[in-house]
Amino acid sequence: MDVVICRDAERVGEVAADRVAQYLAGIPTPVLGLATGSSPLRLYAELARRVAAGTLDVSHGLGFALDEYAGLDPAHPESYRSVITRTVVEPLRMDPARVRVPDGTAPDLQAAADAYDEAIAAVGGVDVQILGIGSNGHLGFNEPFSSFSSRTRVKTLTPQTRADNARFFTSPDAVPTYCVTQGLGTIMESRAAILVATGERKAAAVAAMIEGPVAAVCPASILQFHPRAVIVIDEAAASGL
Ligand code: GLP
Repeated sequence: MDVVICRDAERVGEVAADRVAQYLAGIPTPVLGLATGSSPLRLYAELARRVAAGTLDVSHGLGFALDEYAGLDPAHPESYRSVITRTVVEPLRMDPARVRVPDGTAPDLQAAADAYDEAIAAVGGVDVQILGIGSNGHLGFNEPFSSFSSRTRVKTLTPQTRADNARFFTSPDAVPTYCVTQGLGTIMESRAAILVATGERKAAAVAAMIEGPVAAVCPASILQFHPRAVIVIDEAAASGL
């Protein structure tokens, strides 16, 4: 696990974008694993700046989002389908038909989740997985005590995660209770993983991920076993190390 501590959140975005660009160089059809949440927004903005400047081209790439709320209309502005379209597909000039998000409204959610894993495998797997970390150490929506070998599946959000994400909804009760998320086993198959975290609110989870034991109580600690993981954090998120 490679840990890079940056002076501030802006620098985190730049350093993480450098790594993404390095990993993607020379891959004709890159497959990007995409996280939502606020953490990767500066990284996406920096990648978009490079696309606009003509120094990066991911227009023929493929994308797979980590997760989606279950039962939320994909047209809802806070569905991860909408968030990925707004923050990644449009600014990075990707083809929307080539960027998938787990289906949270399928009649058979688990069958759709299985098909999602198969679609990732069918294109040869994810080249670069972008990740954030929940304040409770979750990856995607793999909450504490998720199986390290889990695949894409339906999960229940913890009260902590629903409270953390209430800021995106009109009221805490409007936050969905269930989700579909790539499993930790799915995420670990990515060829490279880049996790970004900023702010003191993430300090305890970041410390548990990097310096704690690999334990299901902190799902992100599984990244200690990833062959090519880089953690890019600011000084506030590093304050528990
Ligand atoms: C969200 C997402 C995760 C994200 C995490 C942290 O709910 N499902 O993929 O990494 O929680 O979010 P944020 O970056 O907004 O703190």
